[in-house]
Amino acid sequence: MVERRELVADLVERVTERRVTVLLGPRRYGKTSVLRRVASELSEVTTVWVDLYEVASSADVAVRFDDALAGPTGRWQTAARNLALSMSLNLGMVKVELAGPARLRPDPAITFASTLDVLVRTAQREPTLLVIDEFSSIARVPGAAGLLRTAIQHHYGDLGLVFAGSHPSMMRALFTDRAEPFYGQADLIEIGSISAAALEETVRTGFAQSERDSGGLAALIHLFSGGHPQRSMQLADAAWRNWDAATTAEDWWAAGLDDVRHGTGEGMERIYSHFERGERDVLRSIARSGSIYGAEADLLELAKGTATHARQTLLDSGDLFDKGGELRVVDPLFADWLRQRFPI
Ligand SMILES: Nc1ncnc2c1ncn2[C@@H]1O[C@H](COP(=O)(O)OP(=O)(O)OP(=O)(O)O)[C@@H](O)[C@H]1O
Ligand SMILES: [Mg+2]
Repeated sequence: MVERRELVADLVERVTERRVTVLLGPRRYGKTSVLRRVASELSEVTTVWVDLYEVASSADVAVRFDDALAGPTGRWQTAARNLALSMSLNLGMVKVELAGPARLRPDPAITFASTLDVLVRTAQREPTLLVIDEFSSIARVPGAAGLLRTAIQHHYGDLGLVFAGSHPSMMRALFTDRAEPFYGQADLIEIGSISAAALEETVRTGFAQSERDSGGLAALIHLFSGGHPQRSMQLADAAWRNWDAATTAEDWWAAGLDDVRHGTGEGMERIYSHFERGERDVLRSIARSGSIYGAEADLLELAKGTATHARQTLLDSGDLFDKGGELRVVDPLFADWLRQRFPI
């Protein structure tokens, strides 16, 4: 991974010191990848990985935690299973039980609480890291965050605990709003974009492995991507495929970008079509000028109230972010598509 060594080391230390941590950052910036790396560096520790992506009910939450507990193998699993059986719980089976006939169906909230009990008691016996990814989705299930807090709040010393999620403002709110169960419970740290220097180093060494000179390519990529990790790597790969000793970095860059644009255009069209009218206009305006006011906004005849509302929705959904006071479309390729598709 480009430029994540320090972040990974910091997270490893936090987990070891039992400091509850939230990893925040825009979409596709590598939160999940970084946490996977942290888990693999903590080889003595068993990671229980809960993915709450789009959970919509307490049954969903119960199933995701149950699946996560059924994941690890070895001593951890044996300990967890024995504890679960003593509570008449069959790890990994909650989804089957919840899909059964109504009269036999367990109560999801009670099942969830029992599962959490198994988790914390296993963590008292075996070193455990609990990762809760896509945590922001829990906001859609009333009471779920409160249940989780109740079950684990006295066990922060027994397990490593890291939260991550892709809706930055929602993630932040879950830990900084007084009304939220996890208010003040964790340190918030941000995953940022990758620097031009780190990208240069990765591209140069990557090209050198196949005896190619990357010339000024990394700088061109960074200028376009603003350090968006996934898009930077995708563009570097596309340029590498177009590399030719007889031409220059500008040429493979342009050819690579063309390929990526062709490969993603249809997807962008679909993504765009799912936004509401006001959001579309705001995205267009920001992709051009970084602002919802001024000449671009005037051309789109953006009403101030609509624009302000859409801007907030897009910030909350993680499609826009605030970079030092200037608004940006998170995905540089989507911004590029917006500029190409709507020339004014
Ligand atoms: N620093 C990096 N160096 C190289 N590749 C990266 C880096 N960060 C992310 N990527 C690549 O970008 C893609 C997205 O990463 P990942 O899924 O970890 O991001 P995320 O922040 O969890 O995304 P989401 O918000 O969708 O959950 C992956 O294919 C990953 O390999
Ligand atoms: Mg992720």
